[in-house]
Amino acid sequence: MGYTVVIGLQWGDEGKGKVIDYLSRDFYAVVRFQGGANAGHTVYLDGEAFVFHLLPTGLLRKDKRGVIGAGVLIDPAVMMEEIEWITERTGPLKGRFFIDGRTHIVLPHHREEDQWEEELKGGIGTTKRGIGPAYRDLYARFGVRLVDLLGNDFEKRLDRVIDFNNQILGGRYGKPPILKRSVLKTVVPFVEVVREFVENVPYLLERWDSEGKNMLLEGAQGTLLDIFFGTYPFVTSSHTVSGGASVGAGIPPQKLGRAIGVMKAYTTRVGGGPFPTELRDDVGKRIRKVGNEFGATTGRARRCGWLDLVAAKYSVMLNGVEEVVLTKLDVLSGLSKVKVAVSYRIDGIQTDRFPMDPSILYKVEPIYEELDGWSNSDVEGKIKGNALKYIKFVEEFLGVDVSYVSVGKEREEMIGRPSGGWV
Ligand code: GDP
Ligand code: IMO
Ligand code: MG
Repeated sequence: MGYTVVIGLQWGDEGKGKVIDYLSRDFYAVVRFQGGANAGHTVYLDGEAFVFHLLPTGLLRKDKRGVIGAGVLIDPAVMMEEIEWITERTGPLKGRFFIDGRTHIVLPHHREEDQWEEELKGGIGTTKRGIGPAYRDLYARFGVRLVDLLGNDFEKRLDRVIDFNNQILGGRYGKPPILKRSVLKTVVPFVEVVREFVENVPYLLERWDSEGKNMLLEGAQGTLLDIFFGTYPFVTSSHTVSGGASVGAGIPPQKLGRAIGVMKAYTTRVGGGPFPTELRDDVGKRIRKVGNEFGATTGRARRCGWLDLVAAKYSVMLNGVEEVVLTKLDVLSGLSKVKVAVSYRIDGIQTDRFPMDPSILYKVEPIYEELDGWSNSDVEGKIKGNALKYIKFVEEFLGVDVSYVSVGKEREEMIGRPSGGWV
């Protein structure tokens, strides 16, 4: 029993939503632990797409519970919208949806600051969901938490934060002050909707754990976007690695058991930053088209490239991943050759390590292994031919099992590892 954590091994959008939805059938609850509405986790069910930005993906199953841990940032408008459509679809959420009162709230000015900062700094290409500014306020200790909004004196608490922000905003951006009434307009209806879901989450999880229930921890973004270990500064502002699940949900680290890494059969990245295996040619365009690589949150075209096993091995190490779910194998069908980066050459020197410095990552010349391609029929129902060789190559290189392969966007388009392995 206990906890299983699912994280992205690349730059996000690996198909975590689909994988978590699939796996959640065998779990009691699904818990989000970091990030906010910058995430876009897509689940397809009988041709209908559901995109989760904030609520745990597991809530799509009526008999499952969803939890939001303290490390998540809540965007009031996005949360109200999601509560509404999931309620319409599955019935009232009371009793199966819980939000830690410690979560911080993304206020309207955080979104604006995100926009202004992008103009000033340029280059990161954030989702403009206010993530960086809201986490900055959180760590600077003048954020607003959900619990702050529940008491009768919540206006007084807001005043403090608004005053503080106004002193900074005027000086930093020369922008007009935040008006309390615009904050109240966002916050008041939100509190009325979420009040019934507020919970002291570590106690809840501890109880479920002691009752032998199993919980799936839903990572957002991806390892290479981690605030410490990603391609800084082209990263998000939270701990996307498996260790973030302990901190963000309030679970002792010794309790984190299985770590499952989700990885696309190729690589994508949205926004700026180094991307050693990026394809700027027709193959890249083809992957974008066939894989429908357009952001689930912002609609932006995703940059596409070959699978980078140097980066993936780094991610496997950081997360303690023992199991990989390889997604979108179907998208590569029809290519005569498929390449995989197996080491890097930097200034003429070969290395197997993922560099710490983005300026060095920009200089990487990937060293590729070329494998034979496969056709659609090799990934339908059962994996065959060269697709099988591709999976085996990934397993051997990473030293971990590929426990499932995803070959389409629908829930059941998943193929489990045969008992004798991928042979
Ligand atoms: P996430 O952020 O990691 O949950 O991934 P996204 O939902 O942002 O992006 C993954 C996209 O790929 C979604 O549109 C999924 O429906 C789709 N998808 C997931 N797995 C597969 C697969 O195996 N094959 C294909 N063709 N599409 C997939
Ligand atoms: P899911 O959970 C892909 C990227 C943005 C930008 C950088 C910082 O769907 O995999 P932020 O708004 O977080 O300050 O943006 O991180 N990014 C993602 N890319 N998938 C995501 O989430 C992402 N969340 C943030 O494009 O480069
Ligand atoms: Mg996504």
